[in-house]
Amino acid sequence: MQKYKIAVIPGDGIGPEVMRESVKVLEHVAGADGSFAFDFTWFPWGCEYYLKNGEMMPADGMDILSGFDAILLGAVGFPGVPDHISLRDLLLRIRHDFDEYINLRPVKLLQGASCPLAGVRPGDVDMLFVRENSEGEYSGQGAWLYKDTPQEVVIQDSVFSRKGTERVIRYAYELARKEKKTLTSISKGNALNYSMVFWDQIFAEVGRDYPDVETHSLLVDAASMFMVKDPKRFQIVVTSNLFGDILTDLGAAIAGGMGLAAGANLNPERKYPSMFEPIHGSAPDIAGKGTANPLAAIWSASQLLDFFGYEDWGARIIQAIEKLLISKEALTPDQGGAATTEECTAALLRYIR
Ligand code: NAD
Ligand code: IPM
Ligand code: MN
Repeated sequence: MQKYKIAVIPGDGIGPEVMRESVKVLEHVAGADGSFAFDFTWFPWGCEYYLKNGEMMPADGMDILSGFDAILLGAVGFPGVPDHISLRDLLLRIRHDFDEYINLRPVKLLQGASCPLAGVRPGDVDMLFVRENSEGEYSGQGAWLYKDTPQEVVIQDSVFSRKGTERVIRYAYELARKEKKTLTSISKGNALNYSMVFWDQIFAEVGRDYPDVETHSLLVDAASMFMVKDPKRFQIVVTSNLFGDILTDLGAAIAGGMGLAAGANLNPERKYPSMFEPIHGSAPDIAGKGTANPLAAIWSASQLLDFFGYEDWGARIIQAIEKLLISKEALTPDQGGAATTEECTAALLRYIR
């Protein structure tokens, strides 16, 4: 039997509440299949840990994680610890140091999910974002000069390497070719005269190897407008770290909300563990109430199954989520229901069976 060692970092706020549910679903799937099993190890890292220990994870945290096949993460960040510390030292550190340079974020409106756009039906919103996840605007480089003086200057550098830009764009082309879909690159070369001019150049260069793939190039401002006015035009999308962050929250808004938005942080070479997480945060406004929607975390668990080659199970989970949404049974308040987090999962498990 194939065994997978999974590190679970529930994190903060609703992170632990949704993580428990996603683990339940993976345990259920492994039990039903019988050919593979998961061995989960839970790590109490996050903001509470920071307040006790002065660090988000122990000094050898990354070494510990490197021994796992994958990581499941809930959410990180909570009032009381500055976000730039909690996120940089845990979530962003893992993405960067494990070279998880692909962030795959489906923006897919399932039947039964609510969409705020008039006249838009499920088939009209079916995108897959390939977000650069290791550099760009998130390089963490810069300077804070003359701090606390009237001359104060801050510099936040974006870093776009040829290697980093090429590999994410090539990944997106490969995906578009494999799935016979169009590929849209989103950038901002009219204002960002180094980074995004370079991005566009690489998009065109790599594209010469994929004459069979239909491509489009959009400026990020126009792309935001088209995502609302005409979401059908997007299939596979490739974009930079920050643009991908912002556009996928917009994507979540048109595809059922934050409670349904999932993401996979992949190291495609499998040299390091990949990490699967809902794209929402710790939701301090609803934390502790037991009403967080677990479906985003569960959707990310389906991405883990896909990554290990169990695409049938991955698809079955998405189908079960869709059936649950159509039934309107046991949905959490963000989906217009009155169910608790646990009741939602329990109902979902019946649809997976
Ligand atoms: P958020 O995603 O936590 O919440 C935004 C809104 O969406 C809130 O109203 C929240 O209640 C709702 N929401 C989010 N997930 C939900 C779910 N599963 N079910 C029902 N409703 C849900 O974003 P925020 O408020 O901007 O950030 C809160 C904290 O989380 C901050 O510290 C932020 O830095 C951090 N954050 C972490 C991650 C991550 O760990 N991946 C992602 C985004 C934000
Ligand atoms: C996300 C989050 C993170 C990001 C934050 C919490 C650093 O918003 O995963 O979308 O910006 O990548
Ligand atoms: Mn985000």
